[in-house]
Amino acid sequence: MNLREALIGKIPPNQLANLPKSFDIIGDIAILDIPSELLRWSKWIVKTILETHPRLQTILVKTGERSGPHRLRTFEVIYGGTTETTHIEYGYRLFMDVATVYFSPREGEERQRVASAVKKKEQVLLLFAGVGPYAIAIAKKQPKVKIVAVEINPHGFYYLCQNAMLNKVDKQVTPILGDAKHVLAEQKHHGKYHRVIMPLPKEGHLFLEDAIRSLRHRGWVHFYTVERESTSFAGAKRTLKDACKKAGYKLVAVTVRKVLPYGPRQWKVCLDAQVEKKVHKRKKVVRKKAVKKAIRRKRVRKTWVARRKPHRKPVQKKMRKRLTKRRPVRKRYVSKRVVKRKPTKRRKR
Ligand SMILES: C[S@@+](CC[C@H](N)C(=O)[O-])C[C@H]1O[C@@H](n2cnc3c(N)ncnc32)[C@H](O)[C@@H]1O
Repeated sequence: MNLREALIGKIPPNQLANLPKSFDIIGDIAILDIPSELLRWSKWIVKTILETHPRLQTILVKTGERSGPHRLRTFEVIYGGTTETTHIEYGYRLFMDVATVYFSPREGEERQRVASAVKKKEQVLLLFAGVGPYAIAIAKKQPKVKIVAVEINPHGFYYLCQNAMLNKVDKQVTPILGDAKHVLAEQKHHGKYHRVIMPLPKEGHLFLEDAIRSLRHRGWVHFYTVERESTSFAGAKRTLKDACKKAGYKLVAVTVRKVLPYGPRQWKVCLDAQVEKKVHKRKKVVRKKAVKKAIRRKRVRKTWVARRKPHRKPVQKKMRKRLTKRRPVRKRYVSKRVVKRKPTKRRKR
C-alpha cells in the first residue's frame, strides 16, 4: 500500500491527489515532497508513515528547490529532530547530515553502473564528490584504484573523509577541499587520470573542458547534464564535442543514458564518453609523413638503379669488346729446339 492509499479517509479526497505515492528514505530519515497546504494534516501523515516504517527517527518536508553552490535545500521538520544519519547503499555506509550536504538515495544504481565501468589500477578524478558515494562505490569494487575526490562544501568534505575511513578505503581515496575549477587549473592534475566523473548536472559544462584536460592520452568522461527529451540529447553531445575540441582531444565514442526524470520532459542524463588526445593523432600523421618520405626515397633510389642498369650493361659489353680487340696478342713461346723423332718402324707385310 502506498502513502496515498494509506491516507484515504484521513485527508480530504481533493487534497489526496497532491500527495506523492512515495518518499525518499536516507538512513533513518524520511524526506517528503508535499505541498505546504498538506502540512495541516502532518500528524496523520507522520502516524501513517511510522506505522509502516517504525525505525524512522526524523521526518522532513521539502520546503524549497536545491540552490547555491552546495546544492542544498531547506526542510521543515514534522517529526523527530536530528538530521544526521547513516545510510546504507549496496553494502557500504554513508554518514551525513542531510541538512548541510547533498545526497540523493535514488542514484545508487547509477553509482554502481559507473563503478562497474572502472578498471583495475585506474586513476580516477571525482569532481563534485559530495559525501563520497561515487568514491566509496568505486573503491569498494576496485581495491587497486586510486581516487582523487574534490568537494567545495566543508560539511560535505568532512563527511567524505569520515566515510572513506568508515568504509576502510581511506588509502584509496584522496579528498580535496576546494573549488574544482582551481583544482583542475593545477598543472599536477593535467593528463593524469584514466577517468573523470562529473556529477553536477546544472553547471557541470562549465568545468568540462578543464576536466577533459586532466585525462591521459585516452580516457573516459562521465558527464552529467540536464536535457530535454525532444532534442534526442543532441545538445549535450554537441557540448561535449565542443569541449573536447577546445581541450585538444577527439571524441572517440559517446553513449547517453537517462538517469532520472528532472522535470516535465526533462532528464538528468549521463554521457559516457571515450576521448583521445589529438596530439597523438598529429604524431601519427608525422610518422605517416616520415614513412611516406622514406618510401619516396626508396622509390627514387630504385628508379635510379633501374635507370642506371641498362646504361651500364651495354657500356661494359662494348668496353669488354674494345679491350679484347686492343689487347696485344701474346706471342706463343715456341721452342727452337728440334726434337728429332725416332723413325717408327714400318711393319712388314
Ligand atoms: C549534485 S551534488 C553531487 C554529490 C555527490 N556526487 C552525490 O552523488 O551524492 C554536487 C556536489 O558538488 C559540490 N560542488 C558544487 N560546485 C563545486 C565546485 N565548484 N567544486 C567542487 N565541488 C562543487 C556541491 O557542494 C555538491 O556536494
